Amino acid sequence: MSYWLLSGVAVLVGLFLYVIRIPSLKKDIAARKKAVLVTGAASGIGLQTCNRLLKDGAFVFACDLNMDALKKAYQTYPSTRVCLIKMDVTLLEDIKAAYNVVVEELKNGNEKGHINSSLFGLVNCAGIAPLTKNSLVEKQDEEVQKIYAVNVFGIERCTRIFYPLLESQQNSPSSCVINIASVCGIIAFPFFSHYSATKVAVVSYSASLRREFMRKKRVRVTCICPGFTNTPIITSCGDKGTDQSAFKDEIKILESKHLDLLWSPRIMQKPDRVANYIVDCIFSTNNKGKVIVDHFHNRVVWFFLYHMEPWLYDVATYVAYKLFIRK
Ligand SMILES: NC(=O)c1ccc[n+]([C@@H]2O[C@H](COP(=O)([O-])OP(=O)(O)OC[C@H]3O[C@@H](n4cnc5c(N)ncnc54)[C@H](O)[C@@H]3O)[C@@H](O)[C@H]2O)c1
Repeated sequence: MSYWLLSGVAVLVGLFLYVIRIPSLKKDIAARKKAVLVTGAASGIGLQTCNRLLKDGAFVFACDLNMDALKKAYQTYPSTRVCLIKMDVTLLEDIKAAYNVVVEELKNGNEKGHINSSLFGLVNCAGIAPLTKNSLVEKQDEEVQKIYAVNVFGIERCTRIFYPLLESQQNSPSSCVINIASVCGIIAFPFFSHYSATKVAVVSYSASLRREFMRKKRVRVTCICPGFTNTPIITSCGDKGTDQSAFKDEIKILESKHLDLLWSPRIMQKPDRVANYIVDCIFSTNNKGKVIVDHFHNRVVWFFLYHMEPWLYDVATYVAYKLFIRK
């Protein structure tokens, strides 16, 4: 009896290792010389995504508003591995100029042999989260317009302009668009109204596009919703008790020891975790729709908040205000 049990366990362990190991081996090969364009590539999740892509042997079009930061981040890579492009996703002319650069580079790269396909992936990662203590009515019109321009219209424009290059990729797995939304696009947190609204738009836009593209079976669309991730976007809005913190005077927790817990890796994931997930999605044959990327225990919390009755979530928010907000 115990012999059969042991054999069964051994077979299960073998199968488990096979399932874990073989796809990761395949992905290393799959990435080689494939071209992927990443927006917001100078920092945080975008930067880590490019690093992982380059490590796996892909060719990267790293695009960002901040050219100095791009040059600094990719100085160790030769031009046969990465092409740096200054592109503001809110400006149509910038995106069109970037498109021309990409077309030219793909042509040259194919001829010289350092790129072996058309554009394989588009990662729409550029985003902003200008969290300020201004109440809704105090917000300036430009401030509000800017967040939609970057987080929503930026993604829409990049996808529209670069789509013809993605569609021309014929091999299997098909090319893909990865849109970075947020857990805020699934659960509405207080003070994040516009950010949440833009991310809901990205979730919905991606789902619709994904079903639209299914008809041709050429381009996969995945929407990735990271939980709180330790990158400059978040360190600049709810900072670790420094003067930059928008809520420094209001939130009791900012001066307490609990803040360290909030910023600990157990709560706040590292950007490479999200980046690894993005790259795995690009090169896998799986066609996932919407995925929350976070620690398991955080995902459990998001699950309950998402399924909670709205009135119960309101009560929980009210209690949190009483506990953590001074006035
Ligand atoms: N960090 C988090 O907790 C978190 C959680 C969920 C989702 N996200 C999303 O992940 C994405 C990446 O954020 P991050 O955390 O890496 O932040 P980040 O600030 O480190 O990186 C954002 C990058 O986007 C670039 N950018 C901003 N505006 C741009 C524009 N108009 N044109 C081109 N590039 C522009 C910035 O220069 C920067 O390099 C964003 O869409 C963000 O909303 C982040």
